[in-house]
Amino acid sequence: MKLASLAATLLLTLATPTFSIPVEPAAESSSDASSAVPSATSSAATSPAPSSATDSELASWIEEETAFSQKGMVANINPEGAVTGFIAASPSKDQPDYFYAWTRDSSLVIRSVLHMYNTSPSDDTAGLLEDYVTFQVNAMGQDTVCDCLGEPKFNADGSSYTGAWGRPQNDGPAERATAMIMIADALGSNSSLVEDTIKPAVKKDLDYIVGVWSTPCFDLWEEISSVSFFTLMVMRRGLTDGAKFLGDDSYASTAKEIETKLDTFFTDKGYIEASQDRDGGLDYKTSGLDTSTLIAANLASLGDGFYTPGSDKILATSLAIKNSFADLYAINSDAGDGISYAIGRYPEDKYDGVGNSEANPWFLCTLAFAETYYRAINEWKSAGSIEVTDASAAFFQQFDSSAAAGTTYKADSDEFNSLVAAVAAEADTYFARVKKHAVDNAMSEQFDRDSGEEVGAKNLTWSYAAFITASAAYGGSPAA
Ligand SMILES: *[C@@H]1O[C@H](CO)[C@@H](O)[C@H](O)[C@H]1NC(C)=O
Ligand SMILES: *[C@@H]1O[C@H](CO)[C@@H](O)[C@H](O)[C@H]1NC(C)=O
Repeated sequence: MKLASLAATLLLTLATPTFSIPVEPAAESSSDASSAVPSATSSAATSPAPSSATDSELASWIEEETAFSQKGMVANINPEGAVTGFIAASPSKDQPDYFYAWTRDSSLVIRSVLHMYNTSPSDDTAGLLEDYVTFQVNAMGQDTVCDCLGEPKFNADGSSYTGAWGRPQNDGPAERATAMIMIADALGSNSSLVEDTIKPAVKKDLDYIVGVWSTPCFDLWEEISSVSFFTLMVMRRGLTDGAKFLGDDSYASTAKEIETKLDTFFTDKGYIEASQDRDGGLDYKTSGLDTSTLIAANLASLGDGFYTPGSDKILATSLAIKNSFADLYAINSDAGDGISYAIGRYPEDKYDGVGNSEANPWFLCTLAFAETYYRAINEWKSAGSIEVTDASAAFFQQFDSSAAAGTTYKADSDEFNSLVAAVAAEADTYFARVKKHAVDNAMSEQFDRDSGEEVGAKNLTWSYAAFITASAAYGGSPAA
């Protein structure tokens, strides 16, 4: 996210650097990754779930943390001194300065606010949804450096940020279109809001996406200009939602073209590589492994099996990402007893929360695993079965050594139930990891790879929003 676009900008201005930093497989640890794999992976078949005492302790902490996250998130909306609808990425104004409204962060955060509204409606929460619309419509009319709707972030007075930055970031307009459509669905009785404000805004964002989707742009981490899996996934969702909302099939046909491109990201490495067609920004993300792939499945898949959390290629990618972090951080040496590896953005990452040195695990990335697995469970239950494929066989073998391509688990069979229990236990280990590092419930952006202490922007709004959606999936009713 918010990096250091200075570094990205510098790299852009350098003549195509050719050096590349190899993925470091843990210099400091000699332990074999497979021996440190969290509990659910090796012993699930015999003991699929943690003891019920641990279970209920974790359950009550998740409830407590969800309530805290709602407060922490709402506290960063309409902060003092900002115009209506400004959502600070974090209250931190220095080291790092995150006191801006990123279109991405705001649009993902407001979906967690909407989830609060849908589960417990109130006028105050409805007001926050309307405020978001007000701020974003104003932002869409601002002069911007990119002279486009993909301008990444806006100031507290509603004007656009004009310093050097990685731009454009074209996932923002797509995430905004989806958020606005969801708000229209929730507040549909206010027809002036929907007809006069939201519909024209959604059309403007979608028309922009139709023009730019195949062109490289900066990714969600603001570091590399490329065509990325994450950005295409949110664009496909925005266009698909928009085709229905506006009654215009042409958006659906662009979404189909995007699907064809998305199908080229799963490579013979056996996982989805995050980006293609790089034309600027950082050049050392060589593995292509990136937690944004799971975040994309959580936020942007459409319940149709196309890169949904329970689909084979997403599951295969989750295993590859997990393994890439196993030995990367010193704190991961305690993984295994009901606690997962701590997960960062991608293994080659260097952003430490303020500048570039050694990167750390992130709360929202660790939570993405919990959310993916609970969404997957929900999906398998609705589908009535789990089908193992070549791509997903290694994933399922973590829990059932007899799983193989072609194996089917039928809902309600003992095999299905014990597999689902094992995957749920695995998902819980990611919550347990977050619990360990979210001291007094607060969540910053990152936690230190060596000490486990919170680092980076304090009270990161997206960390709280991510907890709310992970918790909804845990509760069996994933956020829309
Ligand atoms: C309907 O939306 C408009 C435009 O955002 C807003 O000014 C008005 O207060 C809303 N009305 C209600 C009843 O929420
Ligand atoms: C983070 O949020 C908590 C809870 O709202 C608050 O008590 C604390 O002061 C905040 N910390 C910072 C640095 O903003």
